[in-house]
Amino acid sequence: MTAPADTVPASQTTTPALEVRDLVVRYGSGRKARNAPPAVDGVSFDIAPGETLGLVGESGSGKSTIGKAVLGLQLPSAGAVRVHGQDITSMSLKKRSTQVADLRVVFQDPYSSLNPARTIGQTLVEPLRLMGIKGSEALLKARSGLESVGLPGDAIDRYPAQFSGGQRQRIAIARALVCDPKVVVLDEPVSALDLSTQAQVLNLLADLRDQRGLSFLFIAHDLGVVRFLSQRTVVLYRGQIMETGPVEAVNSTPRHPYTVALTAAAPVPRPAEQAARRAAREAAGFGTAGAAAPSATGCPFVPRCPLATDVCVEQRPPLRLVGDTRTACHHAEQVRAL
Ligand SMILES: Nc1ncnc2c1ncn2[C@@H]1O[C@H](COP(=O)(O)OP(=O)(O)O)[C@@H](O)[C@H]1O
Ligand code: SF4
Ligand SMILES: [Mg+2]
Repeated sequence: MTAPADTVPASQTTTPALEVRDLVVRYGSGRKARNAPPAVDGVSFDIAPGETLGLVGESGSGKSTIGKAVLGLQLPSAGAVRVHGQDITSMSLKKRSTQVADLRVVFQDPYSSLNPARTIGQTLVEPLRLMGIKGSEALLKARSGLESVGLPGDAIDRYPAQFSGGQRQRIAIARALVCDPKVVVLDEPVSALDLSTQAQVLNLLADLRDQRGLSFLFIAHDLGVVRFLSQRTVVLYRGQIMETGPVEAVNSTPRHPYTVALTAAAPVPRPAEQAARRAAREAAGFGTAGAAAPSATGCPFVPRCPLATDVCVEQRPPLRLVGDTRTACHHAEQVRAL
């Protein structure tokens, strides 16, 4: 099978663990919704078995919408989602919960993602029950799931309120992994945690991935966090892929002006360096996130881009290989100068 030109390939030889093809998601209904720009606009990527793909972009760029479309929580307007070659694009949530054990999720907020009225045991046993695993076998799996994320087996009889944010996120990870999935969508799994807890949870995720050969779609707004866990990065802006490639190349030699702006905006621990980065970003002439809406036909980054010319307004740039990354920019060759 040959991947289309704008697809982000995982591997030429194996069936990808997850395939997303030409995904379009529009919210709402009626003429107004049809005329509004889609939240996700023609996104394609693959994730190989055992690989982590980082999906990064500012708030509102469409990351969670992609995650929701993959998980069946939002019906795509167009495009396809396949897990190990199986097309699950239009499969109902009910059917997925009993048939698609391969695909699970961890959400951002450890406080709202666990039901406060249920014990941890009840929370962990529920997905197993849907898969037909019950009784002592389910309890055994729930206990071993808790131990695999570094929590004692007796946590099973306690309630979410008795745990810290980091512990709750470990429980959410145990719930995601209890059915032995192959693909896990992680939607900003550490964004709500303090820095030292973030590092612990990221290390745990890396260990579990490597032990079990998991594939992760790892969603974050911070390139630095993505870098820690991912092999490849997809940079998203207004629902479109701006740049993609090996994580080191995207971080160290970005070829898209938006990636440059995102890198400059990433938080760093030293205030002086932060101020220098902000000054450099302003000197380069980047607009802010609230800039005017772009034209529907051209590059979405036009209103914020210091390199924009007429061709950028008129033609949407396709993804093409420039250096070590694929970038959707007419003037990618000039980006080094920014
Ligand atoms: N349920 C919804 N109804 C209407 N618009 C939505 C809904 N969820 C998200 N959006 C819009 O879709 C766009 C992408 O949102 P989202 O996928 O949540 O972005 P991100 O996760 O990158 O912050 C935003 O403009 C957001 O306002
Ligand atoms: S295509 Fe033009 S407007 Fe878009 S990022 Fe490249 S230079 Fe900027
Ligand atoms: Mg989000």
